[in-house]
Amino acid sequence: MCGIVGYIGRKQVQPILIEGLKRLEYRGYDSAGTAMVGDGTLTITRAAGRISALEARLGAIQRSATLGIAHTRWATHGAPTERNAHPHVSYDGKIALVHNGIIENYRSLRTFLDQQGIRCVSDTDTEVLVQLIRHFYNGNLEQAVRDALHDVQGTYGIAVVSSDEPDRIVAARKGSPLIIGIGNGEFLIASDAAAIIEHTAQVVYLADGEMAVLTHDGFRTTTLDAVPITKDVQEVEFSLEQIELGGHEHFMAKEIFEQPQSLNNTLRGRLRVREGMIHLGGIAEHARDLARARRIIFTAQGTAWHAGLVGEYLFEDIAKTPAETEYASEFRYRNPLINEGTVVIAISQSGETADTLAALREAKEKGALTLGVVNVVGSTIAREADAGVYLHCGPEIGVASTKAFTSQLAVLTMMAIQLGRRRFLSQNDAQALISQLALIPGHVERIVQQSDGIREAVRRFVHRENWLFLGRGYNYPIALEGALKLKEISYIHAEGMPAAEMKHGPIALISDGMPVVFIATRGNQYDKVLGNIEEVRSRGGKILAVATEGDHDVAQMAEDVFYVPDVPEPLQPMLSVIPLQLLAYHAAVLRHCSVDKPRNLAKSVTVE
Ligand code: AGP
Repeated sequence: MCGIVGYIGRKQVQPILIEGLKRLEYRGYDSAGTAMVGDGTLTITRAAGRISALEARLGAIQRSATLGIAHTRWATHGAPTERNAHPHVSYDGKIALVHNGIIENYRSLRTFLDQQGIRCVSDTDTEVLVQLIRHFYNGNLEQAVRDALHDVQGTYGIAVVSSDEPDRIVAARKGSPLIIGIGNGEFLIASDAAAIIEHTAQVVYLADGEMAVLTHDGFRTTTLDAVPITKDVQEVEFSLEQIELGGHEHFMAKEIFEQPQSLNNTLRGRLRVREGMIHLGGIAEHARDLARARRIIFTAQGTAWHAGLVGEYLFEDIAKTPAETEYASEFRYRNPLINEGTVVIAISQSGETADTLAALREAKEKGALTLGVVNVVGSTIAREADAGVYLHCGPEIGVASTKAFTSQLAVLTMMAIQLGRRRFLSQNDAQALISQLALIPGHVERIVQQSDGIREAVRRFVHRENWLFLGRGYNYPIALEGALKLKEISYIHAEGMPAAEMKHGPIALISDGMPVVFIATRGNQYDKVLGNIEEVRSRGGKILAVATEGDHDVAQMAEDVFYVPDVPEPLQPMLSVIPLQLLAYHAAVLRHCSVDKPRNLAKSVTVE
């Protein structure tokens, strides 16, 4: 997704902007640009492609400038070209703007500007905004931004500078995150804390409908209607080294291998083994509403949706509560039936996915209790849900979600146990499950040690362009997740499904030598899975299996087996997904794909 970073202070702004953009690269982009104000002039530099292309253009431009804004663009309206890259500049060359989001009424605004004799030169929706600001400008940049935004429909996170007011950055937010970094005599604006964390951990999160003006002396915040507001200063909970690669070749590898630690962080302070209880402070005040829940609806997209699917099994199995999982993009437009006792749980690593946020708002509108299971602290979904549980798994930089997924599963498991204890789950059964849950991080540590063996297994099949992933019960969602991982970073076509479903058509796909991944861990459908494996083998398919340690039957049937420790079925997904994450990672590396920044993908899809 697009990224924004801005700075006002005493230092040279150019290196700060470039470094900030580099920390936002993981979000996915296809062009970048800067606008700097120095010596009374506004200098715009833009380039299609990577930030290195922008750096090459910048050279020694505006070394004296100490005020500027910058942007990485993920094209929505208009091709990824220099002409469409941000910052966009007003027709008189004096105002520059960067924008995340979509101006939905840009066509009518463009017509209005044409009627005023103001012509846009790019194919973007964003440009109408900077031209409109200039149209309203009458010596007060903040007011001109305010006036222009009143005519705008859509979503935005913007930062605006002007050579006529070289001592300020004006920012505004509606539907696209913005944070203010508070340094020592310097202030920053960004779409993501990663862009500013090396300068300060003190931040203020702007909410929808809020504006800010940053100057050398400080910042002030108002509503869009100029009503002053006071914002709480918060501490960003992750550090710079957590963002760095930590010796790994890719962020995805780092995040796969740090899952023992990230899961420990997710579980920390929440397990009460002796009492057979779970403590989740973020939803404690809604404990009674939750206990009376008649129906749980999980809503999310992508990997988070797969976590919801596991949550469905967990809540019905452990908490004996009806549960269903909905794609947020479908839920939001389906006019969903929300009745008394419905709890909607939005799952989102970024907390900014547009469809998931819209589904959450729709559920609130219809009177549901809404909970968020989110990683990014202070994100929109986290703030708009009635309550929630943070993952605390640290920043996830790789576009392919890995550690956030296993932390989502850990949180959903804890929520199901907590609700189950208010229903029919005995203290003894809960103690047994919780004590096993506490061992999961150590089990994950053992599984990731198989990475080299998994790479060699993948090497034999990496040229195959079609894979199947099959699982049953709790491992059916893991089959979907394994297929998604492989697809999104190695560009191999893969399909996941319930193992039994294969016979209803997809078995026609099985060709000689086709790789088929089975999750065949011990469970109540184990024998049926072995039968499905035979069906595939007898048609020439090659089996790669995830199996329970000590299981030699599967080893007789598979080309390769990736073993996971024996745990109760509800806890298996946190383990069985790990080999599939590694499988996808190694396939992508062997195919020389861009592991952390796969083509066409963004880390957080903040547009529909
Ligand atoms: C996962 O590997 C993908 N990158 C994508 O499906 C992602 O899970 C989805 O876009 C949801 O993102 P969120 O968790 O930040 O809402």
